[in-house]
Amino acid sequence: MAAGDGKKHQDTRLVHSGSHPERFDGAVNPPVYRVSTVVSADVEEMRHRATHPPDMLAYGRAGTPTHWALEEAIADLEGYNHCLALPSGLSGILISILGLCASGDHVLVADNVYGPIRLVCCDRLANWGLEAELFDASVGAGVADLIRPNTKMIIVESPGSLTFDMTDIPAVSKVAKDNGILVVADNTWATPLLIDAPALGIDISVHSGTKYIGGHSDVAVGTLCLDDDDLHQRLKMTSLLFGYGLSPDDAYLALRGLRTLSVRLERHEENARIVAEWLQERPEIDRVMYPALASDPGHAIWSRDFSGANGLFGFMFNASVSQEAADRFINALTLFLRGFSWGGYESLAMSTSGSSIKRPVSGWTPTGATMRLHVGLENPADLIADLDQALASMANAMAAE
Ligand SMILES: Cc1ncc(COP(=O)(O)O)c(C=O)c1O
Repeated sequence: MAAGDGKKHQDTRLVHSGSHPERFDGAVNPPVYRVSTVVSADVEEMRHRATHPPDMLAYGRAGTPTHWALEEAIADLEGYNHCLALPSGLSGILISILGLCASGDHVLVADNVYGPIRLVCCDRLANWGLEAELFDASVGAGVADLIRPNTKMIIVESPGSLTFDMTDIPAVSKVAKDNGILVVADNTWATPLLIDAPALGIDISVHSGTKYIGGHSDVAVGTLCLDDDDLHQRLKMTSLLFGYGLSPDDAYLALRGLRTLSVRLERHEENARIVAEWLQERPEIDRVMYPALASDPGHAIWSRDFSGANGLFGFMFNASVSQEAADRFINALTLFLRGFSWGGYESLAMSTSGSSIKRPVSGWTPTGATMRLHVGLENPADLIADLDQALASMANAMAAE
């Protein structure tokens, strides 16, 4: 956020947004409100609490000052009026659909979004009458051809999960606005810092705070931001009715992680660029999938819409490397830990070969074994040495075959 628009710089807001020491006897962080039951002085107060006025405790699952501090900070950083803190990123997408769509509604889902979201839309919710349709994430304004009278929502994620291909979100949003359709975006890769989600035309911005917001691989949390008061109330009630409560301890950890997000992200990006550029030169590797690289097909959209990158990217071995050899590579890594998820301080590696990486509508299929790396906060020279020795071990095993 640039100065001059009446708001402080992003780094300053990252430190101070949602912070109210005066409410907590001067404590700089909000306390963890471990509470289910809240008692009232009289029945009138009970009734008042039951209407859930904002910033008034009613019942633990309905939110506490710990949750509100996190929600206020994320809403401010993202530039929306409201935020809901939820128990996972996945629940942010799910609550949006469950709260705002009904049986018979048509929902367009980009074919590169996080696999479980595709599955939940096209299988579980389809069983309840949702008309979920996958679409080619690269279609941009061409999404107009897919709009039906009952289209209610478009779900996007850019860069896409595992393939890191970019979607032209402003083009999709324009079509959506013209047709009164809501755009829901999984912005986990961007974090609340790297895009201006409202300016891209995103109506509901969802994050898995489990990743960079938490930042220490010890919390599951989701956030959902939006401007519209009525939709916010509806989604808040939906999350309450479906029992999607975030624990106050996890709200606290997410807020604690958030405060250092920008310095961590800068280092993740710096390290990832060094590692990605090194991998790009390796003969075993066909392609590095990281939109921050000038050679990436999504680089132009990324440069236009993003102010930075993070430590997560993919790569594809060339066709001469078998899946078994690629598995040997992963097994030989010592600093990159073998693990799902990402966004913590540590480096992680995971094989992405399989059905989730295939793009059912665009038809894109990898031509070699694929991997995802999360580049952590270690020294990049050590990370490169680890990759180098794992590639050597893979080559030795291939030579012996
Ligand atoms: C892009 C993206 N969105 C959502 C999720 C789900 O996150 P959570 O575990 O917080 O539901 C993930 C998890 O890996 C993800 O990569």
